[in-house]
Amino acid sequence: MNINVLGRFSLAQDLKYCLVGDGHCVQHVSNLDSIRNLVCYIPYMNNKTRCNLYKKAKQNGAIITSYVSSKSTVCDNVELGDGTIIFPNCYVGSNVRIGSNCIIMPNCVISHDCVIEDNCYIAPSVTLGGFVQVGVNSTLYLSSSVIPSTVIGSDVTVGMGAVVINNCANDHTYVGNPATPIRKG
Ligand SMILES: CC(C)(COP(=O)(O)OP(=O)(O)OC[C@H]1O[C@@H](n2cnc3c(N)ncnc32)[C@H](O)[C@@H]1OP(=O)(O)O)[C@@H](O)C(=O)NCCC(=O)NCCS
Repeated sequence: MNINVLGRFSLAQDLKYCLVGDGHCVQHVSNLDSIRNLVCYIPYMNNKTRCNLYKKAKQNGAIITSYVSSKSTVCDNVELGDGTIIFPNCYVGSNVRIGSNCIIMPNCVISHDCVIEDNCYIAPSVTLGGFVQVGVNSTLYLSSSVIPSTVIGSDVTVGMGAVVINNCANDHTYVGNPATPIRKG
């Protein structure tokens, strides 16, 4: 794994550090076949779209590495997959594993021993207690919190401000405090 620790977050000036997906810079790489040195993605798109882009970039031989803001704290024994971004002012505890192509937005707390699988989107100010597991393609919206040792399935959406105290089933949307499912999908 290759982690680029950049001093501050800025849009790419160099295609080697091209950020994809934001309406402001996607034009630089509008021809996906030209992607060869993709480093990371900007998160303004849904997980599925981002995942497709990631796969396509890989197929095209892109070099996809991770981005960790130097303004975030990442403790010992943390594993990050390629294409994963940790924005500023996050805290990532020890023994955390974050898969590929994940977005960890600013001000998140990912406590020790959490596992976040591939293609997840973690919105700003989300707090995960220790030993939380988040399945692939899940989205946790702004300021939601998850009590320690909870298992969130795959393709789950957790609404803004939700407080998750029980495990969440795959492919459901949860909101409220305590969080309850409002619908499938
Ligand atoms: C979870 C979410 C995506 C659900 O959106 P939705 O499927 O369109 O849901 P709806 O607006 O149709 O609401 C369905 C019900 O859930 C309730 N609800 C929706 N979001 C809620 C939330 N975050 N907290 C509590 N209740 C919520 C609604 O009041 C509604 O209740 P009702 O049926 O009793 O009237 C959305 O509400 C949300 O939390 N968005 C936050 C997005 C965000 O954080 N964006 C920033 C990214 S950086």
